[in-house]
Amino acid sequence: MQDKYYLTTPIYYVNAAPHIGHAYTTIVADLIKRFQSMQGKHAVLTTGSDEHGVNVERAAERAGKTPIAYTDVIAAEFERQWQQLGLQVDHFQRTSSPQHARVVNDLFARCRDNGYIYKGAYTGQYCIFDNLYVNDAKPGDPCPDCGRPTETITEENFFFKLSAFGERLLELYEREPKFIQPETRRNEVMAFVKQGLTDLSITRSNIKWGIPVEGEAPHVFYVWFDALTAYMSAVEGEGMWPADLHLIGKEIVRFHAIYWPAFLMAAGLELPKRIFAHGWLLFEESKMSKSRGNIVRPEPIRRVMGVDALRYFLLREVVFGQDGSFSYDALVGRYNSDLANGLGNLASRTLTMIRQYNAGAVPAGTGAPAIAELARTTAASMIASFAEFEFSKGLEAVWALLSATDKYIVEQAPWTLLKKGAEGRAALDDTLYTAAEVVRIATALLAPVLPESTAKIWAQLGMTEPLASVRLDQLAWGQLTAGQKIGEVAGVFPRIDAKVAIPEMRALEEEEAARQAALLGKTLAPPAAPVAEGSPKITIDDFAKVDLRVARVLTAEPVKGANKLLHLTIDVGEAEPRTLVAGIAEAYQPEQLVGRKVVIVANLEPRKLRGITSNGMIVAASVEGGKPVLAGFLEDVPVGARLK
Ligand code: MSP
Repeated sequence: MQDKYYLTTPIYYVNAAPHIGHAYTTIVADLIKRFQSMQGKHAVLTTGSDEHGVNVERAAERAGKTPIAYTDVIAAEFERQWQQLGLQVDHFQRTSSPQHARVVNDLFARCRDNGYIYKGAYTGQYCIFDNLYVNDAKPGDPCPDCGRPTETITEENFFFKLSAFGERLLELYEREPKFIQPETRRNEVMAFVKQGLTDLSITRSNIKWGIPVEGEAPHVFYVWFDALTAYMSAVEGEGMWPADLHLIGKEIVRFHAIYWPAFLMAAGLELPKRIFAHGWLLFEESKMSKSRGNIVRPEPIRRVMGVDALRYFLLREVVFGQDGSFSYDALVGRYNSDLANGLGNLASRTLTMIRQYNAGAVPAGTGAPAIAELARTTAASMIASFAEFEFSKGLEAVWALLSATDKYIVEQAPWTLLKKGAEGRAALDDTLYTAAEVVRIATALLAPVLPESTAKIWAQLGMTEPLASVRLDQLAWGQLTAGQKIGEVAGVFPRIDAKVAIPEMRALEEEEAARQAALLGKTLAPPAAPVAEGSPKITIDDFAKVDLRVARVLTAEPVKGANKLLHLTIDVGEAEPRTLVAGIAEAYQPEQLVGRKVVIVANLEPRKLRGITSNGMIVAASVEGGKPVLAGFLEDVPVGARLK
């Protein structure tokens, strides 16, 4: 009986096609699946799509489609991309599937039977215009979509008694210190739970596009109760539950580390063993996301550099668990230095020597003891690092072995040994055996990370056992058979010229964006203009919405505990002075401001800053160094005058 290893990625929202942020989690999941399989585990990977909710309902409406027709297209696009990247996904679970709906209702029934669900009144902010619940908004907050004020609504919902689980969750985190990793996330979650948990509204009666609560029309399940259950419904009846690992991005830790175990405890079901939250991939300094328009897609990289180049970069360059930056320059740089020069060079050099000096057959030898020992410790430490999700550390260890072997070959100078008679021949054979054995071991160790290219090197080395069935935990020095014929030798990582490859990837990126936009109809926003080329154009009507006025500063004082803020009262020519909080304290002393005429945005939604409600915003230029410079007039202007 094989041990099982069940792992998941988040199920992705279907409001956009996948970018390398989504690919990041899915690639790491694929790597872990391969790594576990190569240690004899029966590893199963679930990913999928999170399809319900008002946002999807509305996006479908805008595209002139039914919600299901809309999500069909995007879910298929995700699935297709994972296939194209060669990711070994076992289950692509869609939350719109009837089978999933049944499992969600089962979970609900179990929680309800155990007394953890009750009907109550939900009070929250809601945008009537957008038909949107605005989570975490306070009365008066604007709708994030349209900016209109939200309304406070009260409706009957089902609630989950999350408040009953604080102690049990804290016990869980204490008992299983690795339940949430990395440590920083665990601390965050524990601090949050210690503050006390409030009950959770888990249904809505105002949304149509959701899983109906059986026998409780018009209630449908609301986001997380539905979405998290996909991890279980995907493997229903397969004996895979509980999950050994949920891989997630750091922004959804609370849902996974608090809600999810609480739901399962309430239902009397087994808990996942580990949750690992990785950091964000940043592009041009901020989190890659569709709404920011700063996304990079995996497909152009795959086409120009191969999928292994992307996998290697993500795993080696970004410390798993921390944020990391993506750039095309760094991608090409890593590829050339570590893959073309490092691994690729050692493999082709070794194989070429075997061809040249030993007629293409692996010579007999025992190998250099120091390198053999280093290979043994490298395998052990890489396996240990990977088991702890320290991928870059594990890869560094393998690269240390590769460069030690390179150095050893140079020291041995095989090309001179040939001329040294029988003794020289024996030394040459041993050198070649050492190099080939390192290539074999490194190739096997790297197979989970670089599946395409290691398969090629493996074949060139003349190995007949399928690479995927090699047991990493049973790798040992000396398993390479003398006399084995090597295959055709061909470079696996040709050097890449950044000047050619990067423009090519950028061009393909545009093509890909256009293809996806066409695929989704009117559903995708046009790509945001890059900041350097100026902001998107607006119409005169857009501008007319901004009420800019001349105002005079009446009083100014610092805001306690906030270095940048000043608390101002201003005269805008209205009956009463207004209060305003401005982030200009580092550039202006309060006394410089009193009496001064400034420009303000008079019709901005009020905002609370440090407990002070700010009614408007002061207009200033943002100059290099980040200091604001107040807008003003050379001529005298009356207070209250409108800028047009
Ligand atoms: N649907 C929810 C998850 C429900 S799971 C039961 C969701 N979907 S999402 O489409 O927004 O995907 C979020 C996940 O995508 C992140 O947690 C992370 O795994 C991945 N990433 C999306 N953008 C990313 C980056 N820029 N960087 C790294 N990972 C990113 O949240």
